[in-house]
Amino acid sequence: MGFSKDFLWGAATAAYQIEGAAFEDGRVPSTWDAMTQGHVRHNETGTYACDHYHRMKEDVAAMKKMGLKCYRFSVAWPRVISDVEGTVNQKGLDFYRSLVDELEAAGIEPLVTLFHWDLPMWAYEHGGWLNDDIADWFAHYVEVVVDALSDKVRYWLTINEPVCFGPVSWQVAVHPPFMRLSGAPLQKVMKNILLSHGRAVEVIRERAALPPLVGLATTCSPVLPALKEEEEPSYNKTFSNESAEGLPHAGEYHWADAIVFGDVDEKTFGKVTEEERALISQPLDFFGVNIYSGDRFTPLDPEKDRGYPRNACGWPIEPEALYWGPKFLYRRYNLPILITENGFAGIDFLMSDGKVHDPQHIDFLKKYLHELKRAADEVPVLGYCHWSLMDNMEWCDGYDTRFGLWFVNYTTCERIWKDSAYFYADVIKTNGEEL
Ligand code: FCB
Repeated sequence: MGFSKDFLWGAATAAYQIEGAAFEDGRVPSTWDAMTQGHVRHNETGTYACDHYHRMKEDVAAMKKMGLKCYRFSVAWPRVISDVEGTVNQKGLDFYRSLVDELEAAGIEPLVTLFHWDLPMWAYEHGGWLNDDIADWFAHYVEVVVDALSDKVRYWLTINEPVCFGPVSWQVAVHPPFMRLSGAPLQKVMKNILLSHGRAVEVIRERAALPPLVGLATTCSPVLPALKEEEEPSYNKTFSNESAEGLPHAGEYHWADAIVFGDVDEKTFGKVTEEERALISQPLDFFGVNIYSGDRFTPLDPEKDRGYPRNACGWPIEPEALYWGPKFLYRRYNLPILITENGFAGIDFLMSDGKVHDPQHIDFLKKYLHELKRAADEVPVLGYCHWSLMDNMEWCDGYDTRFGLWFVNYTTCERIWKDSAYFYADVIKTNGEEL
């Protein structure tokens, strides 16, 4: 079995991380533009990023050359909606329109993320996720995007990793707006994120021109059994409070349980009415998930596991996460799995032969995709989006952390295919046969 004939081989990016042109064509600032001074490594910013805004056509041409079947990108809310009154910035919208036109011409399926963390400053200045009106603001933005793109877009992801940006931005002050909330205000933030997801699903279903396929991008670090008898306890641990330990607020599965089952954890989200529960848990078409690593059933031992293989961010390399993750998530949520992110950060640079050799990245792809193929033998897996198409601004880590298949020379913004890009192109060409 393995990968289906129409398996979506793709790559993923997010607007703020690649677009640049932060103050052009009517884009208004996001919290990332206005609030991160002193918080990002080397004081770097997304003002220019990879200049994708101006190089979009060449980028799509190169994606086609790589053979990508799909491309996951995000629309920047601050590029499309200028103020709290909901004024539409046509020029911003036109950019995404030409992007989907280019993708269509290249035969690449667009996967659109509606919110990948770039909250407009106007929204923040009116309270951001603390203002109960945010679900209306978001719904209006989604309407505008769906009306503009849905004759060419079928796959919609409402929100990227709510379990991450919610707490990281509003509870532990690591991402902008660097808030330290607790108790009822924090619950309000979390609940407003859920409600905004729900409103987006509603708007997409009501207005989309092409029959839409709707999901979101959650995240999961599955617990990994080493022995047969650890399988059941690993499943249980993946979806237990134990797996939430070390996370700033609730577990990944709390979000997914709320969204798929309407099982809204009161401690995390506060009380919801029956109407709200129904809004939050409308049926989805697939389970989108970002998986980078997993937690061993027997946790890594600081003595015995010294020097464990990790990426440049320190995340353990755990290929079996792409086997157990889809398997466990399908078992629990019973939705086809779409890997919306998975990738490797290395320490890459232009080498003396003018190329970028990244053998660890290739090995990562081989091992992880081999496991995903095993998963695809057992449960429905729709596609795989590699994070990332190109090196980009890794949020507060700035530009040192290079997740790309394409190396970006940030002085010239030239893209250079790393060896892993050629390898991935080959995987796509053979539909993963040789993994
Ligand atoms: C994910 C984010 C993505 C990128 C990768 C490395 O959590 O969704 O934007 O930063 O991590």
